[in-house]
Amino acid sequence: MNTEDLRINGKRLQQTLEEMAKIGATPGGGVQRLTLTDEDQAARDLFVKWLKEIDLDVTIDEMGNIFGRRAGTDNDLPPVMSGSHIDSQPKGGRFDGILGVMGPLEVLRTLHENNIETKRPIVIVDWTNEEGSRFAPAMVSSGVWAGALERDWAYDRTDINAKRFEDELIRIGYKGDVPAKKWPLHAYYEYHIEQGPMLEREGKRIGAPKGILCLHWYDIYLEGEANQVGPTPMEGRHDALCAAAEMILTVNRLPDDMGGNMVATVGEIQNYPNSRNIIPDKVHFTVDIRSWDDDHAIKAWERLRQDFEAIAQNRGCPIRIEETWRVEHSPFDEKLVQRVLNVAEELSYPGLYMVSGAGHDASYMNQIAPTAMIFVPSIGGRSHVEVENTTWEDCEAGGNVLLHCLLQSANES
Ligand code: GLV
Ligand code: MN
Ligand code: MN
Repeated sequence: MNTEDLRINGKRLQQTLEEMAKIGATPGGGVQRLTLTDEDQAARDLFVKWLKEIDLDVTIDEMGNIFGRRAGTDNDLPPVMSGSHIDSQPKGGRFDGILGVMGPLEVLRTLHENNIETKRPIVIVDWTNEEGSRFAPAMVSSGVWAGALERDWAYDRTDINAKRFEDELIRIGYKGDVPAKKWPLHAYYEYHIEQGPMLEREGKRIGAPKGILCLHWYDIYLEGEANQVGPTPMEGRHDALCAAAEMILTVNRLPDDMGGNMVATVGEIQNYPNSRNIIPDKVHFTVDIRSWDDDHAIKAWERLRQDFEAIAQNRGCPIRIEETWRVEHSPFDEKLVQRVLNVAEELSYPGLYMVSGAGHDASYMNQIAPTAMIFVPSIGGRSHVEVENTTWEDCEAGGNVLLHCLLQSANES
């Protein structure tokens, strides 16, 4: 069959996404499917069922990564892979991650029903714990698979209730026995919503990021001295929350102070004992720094660390700092990025060469295989929120770009 005119079934992709969005649905119209929870398990079960319906060879590795393999005509050639993640943020959206898993599923359904063979095998993947919200860091299982992170270190990560990653993986029945270890790959494509405003602003339908910013995560622990808030004079207090407040504003000012080209955020904080009439004696908060320039991000962190230490000293609140995670900026494979733009043009979808501020499993995949991403617009540039939205037409357009990128790569010698 001439595959030039082949298109995915946009209606079926919509129905599949709607079906998935019921798992962990929130009253505000989003989903909460934190990694390794019962909701993650239910979504995985449904995904595996769908993989088996189109005769894919399903394997689950020791990090819980789920692979569905469609044979090629020459199975000695390294396969082409596409996937993303099923887990979500707390009160997250219906598209982040899941579009990049259901998109390639729709592509493989289309190939299956049209009996289309490809030279190379095509593998679809769901990576465990991309979000890093329940268990830090993010993209942990593609990181282990790519050889950038240690499996046992990942297993020992704990959530806010001290539950271990490995124990939760076993509990939901997704600790497989296949080693989480890379194999040769011809290409990796990740299909995703943009999660920012650029496509909408520029009136474009398909984004081809040149790569992903570096991501640096830090955890800050402060100690203060608890006391009754009424009788305790203001002078001489050691208020850990006030120390944190000063530090948080320093983080917010950091990009300006450093001259731009970066973003810096505190998104999570725990305050103890968290009572309105006790001076806080323990605070934990996180810092996220991102830039295209790794050195700039490191310099920014060095400056921030000095500021934090000075604030801690001044307030008499001892500080402990953990440098939790760093992943370098990822410049994608230029040939594959150009292919995404070319395919978009062939299909008459306006394309945009851009950059990804959000982290993706593609960061780690880029370290071991030629990698590119396909973005579609996020309405209002909103993501990691319940109102996250993308039109069904755009989902279909991105699916068609993925289809033809996968066909081209999978038919290369
Ligand atoms: C991943 O969701 C990120 O933090 O960008
Ligand atoms: Mn994502
Ligand atoms: Mn996300």
